[in-house]
Amino acid sequence: MNQPVLNVVVARRRDEAPGIASFELTSENGQPLPAFDAGSHVDVHLPNGLVRQYSLCNDPRETHRYLIAVLRDEAGRGGSKAVHELVREGERLQISAPRNHFALAQQAPHHLLLAGGIGVTPILCMAEQLASSGASFDMHYCTRSKERTAFVERIAQAGFAQSVQFHHDDHPGGSTFDLEQVLNGAPAGTHLYVCGPRGFMDFVLDTARAKGWPGDRLHYEFFGAPAIQSTAGGSFQVRIASSGATIDVPPECTVVQALAANGVEVITSCEQGVCGTCLTRVLSGEPDHLDSYLTDEERAANDQFLPCCSRAKSPLLVLDL
Ligand code: FES
Repeated sequence: MNQPVLNVVVARRRDEAPGIASFELTSENGQPLPAFDAGSHVDVHLPNGLVRQYSLCNDPRETHRYLIAVLRDEAGRGGSKAVHELVREGERLQISAPRNHFALAQQAPHHLLLAGGIGVTPILCMAEQLASSGASFDMHYCTRSKERTAFVERIAQAGFAQSVQFHHDDHPGGSTFDLEQVLNGAPAGTHLYVCGPRGFMDFVLDTARAKGWPGDRLHYEFFGAPAIQSTAGGSFQVRIASSGATIDVPPECTVVQALAANGVEVITSCEQGVCGTCLTRVLSGEPDHLDSYLTDEERAANDQFLPCCSRAKSPLLVLDL
């Protein structure tokens, strides 16, 4: 787990929509917070010991605060419920420095931002950054209803409001979001960014791929990973290239856990194959990729894997550790 490095205070908590609250975090000592780019997230160490990742959704030019927004997910793993129930104004928290696995492509001629529900958090930050740099972009924001849409007021008052289209499922006749039309209308060379519920992201990415959009113009960030079942057998071994030590990984253990039990620390964050923090080079052997982070091309190369969740198809993996 990444060590917390920043001590912050919850300066403001605000209800943004039913089940969605935003939290403004300021530094405990009054110093400016580390700079960040759109798409960044922080690890938040919650009062009950859980650690969760949340995207920063304020303007990246701001250094006096970080803003996160959290949807209470009753079916989740408990992090969002803990945030809603335990984190009040004045609460002191520890967070990591911002990290970015969902960055804007600087040279893109146009950016297409697609947000589903609470996936608006990194997307809104991207809109702020693109607008402030004068870059060309469109944003589509899909939610179940207007009432359940966070940040409506903020977007309406933003200088880029005319670049944002809202789509609600409860619109008469269904959602107004016509993805095919949006993709067909995108200028040549457009980069697409999507964040939201898994079904929404799969729909967007599958449709774009089917229409021939290349992988390097599709950018996405999953919030949580569905469990992917390993197709390989249970146990295998990993070898540490630097020391030659060979470590058994039993079926009930992740590679990260097996390594830690033998004194080899791999830094982790999400521990579910979403964030990329534990990315490790594989020198030989065939990984069984069970993550939601690598692209199909990266998986096919078999030269890196996410040991917090992925396993091995071959009896031995040699790791560049
Ligand atoms: S810790 Fe996030 S992908 Fe492994």
